[in-house]
Amino acid sequence: MKSKDTEILDIAYRINIDEIDEQHSRWLEIYQESLSLASGHDHDDETQEKMKILVAKMYEYARAHLKFEEKFMESIGYPGLVEHKLQHLELDKSISDLFVKLFNGDPIDKEKLISQIKVWLYQHILDHDKKIADYVSEKGIDVSEITGSD
Ligand SMILES: [Fe+2]
Ligand SMILES: [Fe+2]
Repeated sequence: MKSKDTEILDIAYRINIDEIDEQHSRWLEIYQESLSLASGHDHDDETQEKMKILVAKMYEYARAHLKFEEKFMESIGYPGLVEHKLQHLELDKSISDLFVKLFNGDPIDKEKLISQIKVWLYQHILDHDKKIADYVSEKGIDVSEITGSD
C-alpha cells in the first residue's frame, strides 16, 4: 500500500526518459520497502533477513541501472558525466560494503541502511538525475532515437 508521500514521489522522480524512469521506479520500491522496516528491531532475525533481501535488490538495481544511465549520458554528451559517474561509484562501493558485512555475518545497521536508500533517492535521483533531463530538454535532444523507444 502506497503512502501519500510515495505517491507524490512517484510523480516527482520522473525525468521523462521512459527507460530510466522505469528503472528508477525500482529504487522507489526499495525505498518503500525500507520504510516498512522502520518498526522492526535492528538485530532480530526477521529484520536482518528483510535487510538482506533489500541489499540484494539494491545490488540488482545498481547492476542494471548505473551503466545504462552512464551510457545514456555519454550518448548525449552530458557535461556532468564524470561527476555523475563518481556518485554512481560511491553507491556501488556502499552496496559492496553491505555485501561484505552480510558475507561476514555482521549485522547491518537498519537506520543507516534506510537513510542511505533515502539519500540516494532525494539527493541523487531527484536532483542529479533530474539534471540529465534538464540538459535533454535544454538541448532539444530526441531521446527516442537514443534509447530506441518509440
Ligand atoms: Fe539514476
Ligand atoms: Fe544517476
